[in-house]
Amino acid sequence: MSVVIVTGSGGLVGSEAAKAFALLGYDVVGIDNDMRRLFFGSDASTLWNVDRLERELGSGYWHFSVDIRNREAIMDVFRIYGANVAIVVHAAAQPSRDWGGREPSTDFAVNALGTLNVLEATREFSPGASFIFTSSSEVYGDHPNALPLVELDTRYELEPSHPFFRGVGEAMAVDACNHAISGVSKLSADLMVQEYGRSFGLNTVCFRTGMVTGKGQSSTALHGFIAYAIRCAGTGSHLTVYGHKGKNVRDVIHASDLAGAFIEFVKHPRAGEIYNVGGGRRVNCSVIEAIERAEVVTGKKMNWSYLSAMRAGDTLWWIGDNSKFESHYPGWKPTYDLDSIFVELHEANLDCWSC
Ligand SMILES: NC(=O)c1ccc[n+]([C@@H]2O[C@H](COP(=O)([O-])OP(=O)(O)OC[C@H]3O[C@@H](n4cnc5c(N)ncnc54)[C@H](O)[C@@H]3O)[C@@H](O)[C@H]2O)c1
Repeated sequence: MSVVIVTGSGGLVGSEAAKAFALLGYDVVGIDNDMRRLFFGSDASTLWNVDRLERELGSGYWHFSVDIRNREAIMDVFRIYGANVAIVVHAAAQPSRDWGGREPSTDFAVNALGTLNVLEATREFSPGASFIFTSSSEVYGDHPNALPLVELDTRYELEPSHPFFRGVGEAMAVDACNHAISGVSKLSADLMVQEYGRSFGLNTVCFRTGMVTGKGQSSTALHGFIAYAIRCAGTGSHLTVYGHKGKNVRDVIHASDLAGAFIEFVKHPRAGEIYNVGGGRRVNCSVIEAIERAEVVTGKKMNWSYLSAMRAGDTLWWIGDNSKFESHYPGWKPTYDLDSIFVELHEANLDCWSC
């Protein structure tokens, strides 16, 4: 078993996972039809990242421009590699809360039904593989908004004495709240991934992350806030901040640290697991704090304005608790902090601006 199938391989998480597993000696099969371009426009196309994988990984990378909504085409790819598939990283998705409400049917078809197609293909042809699903803190809907948050100068925050100060655990309820359309499609997929672990014994896992970032992200106004903010600061483009006075908080994980968590999981896979994995209490920021950092790292004043209208289903505060994952996988050692994330994204953007 020497093959890793990565869906969404042109995207932020998929490309980082592809590189990480290739470095370990796996052959990587990528599936990505550049649908991010359809969602967010040509600026957000991920073709450049597929080109980069093909260049950097050479004969260790095979690409299929296949739509995960196309069940037969997905089956055909898995049929080729069959029992040689050791790991499936399923990261192809419609990832934006805002875009999901524009086309609920497309959002659900990609996120929920697309996930079912990839699960079915794994069950049929590669049942011994570890199945890693990149879920989201969106599955908890706006439940975190019920936490007793206090308003500080630049962020909402919990009192240090609150049991969730170090982060929200997996026991938070997932229903009877507002999810926005994309939160429902992610939760549907997340539940199905768990179920394939329970009902069919596949080694499935859901990683529920807050904000993921990294230089492999094709950032856009609707998705990829930190990279987009740095680009706006650097280029002088305008940035709109929606709601919560810009004090809403997310934990932030670099995609390579997330890929590091995938690597730990596949060493000792389990069936039907869920983990909150992210920057946690160590790496997090509010929108305003991100803007301030973007200004510092670029040395330029940001051209931004504020709209009080909130995004549907948006959460005021998300810091996840990594404890469960860390206790199951003590070998996981994330390396990035906010400083290194902002510096890396700025340097990567400099390359783009000059080309
Ligand atoms: N980036 C974040 O901040 C974040 C946070 C929480 C959860 N997640 C989840 O992680 C996963 C990966 O996110 P990302 O940031 O890498 O997204 P991304 O948009 O950068 O990558 C997703 C890739 O999937 C491809 N894709 C989309 N629809 C497809 C389809 N129908 N068939 C084939 N390919 C398709 C896109 O072209 C894109 O390259 C998603 O499930 C997302 O919901 C991301």
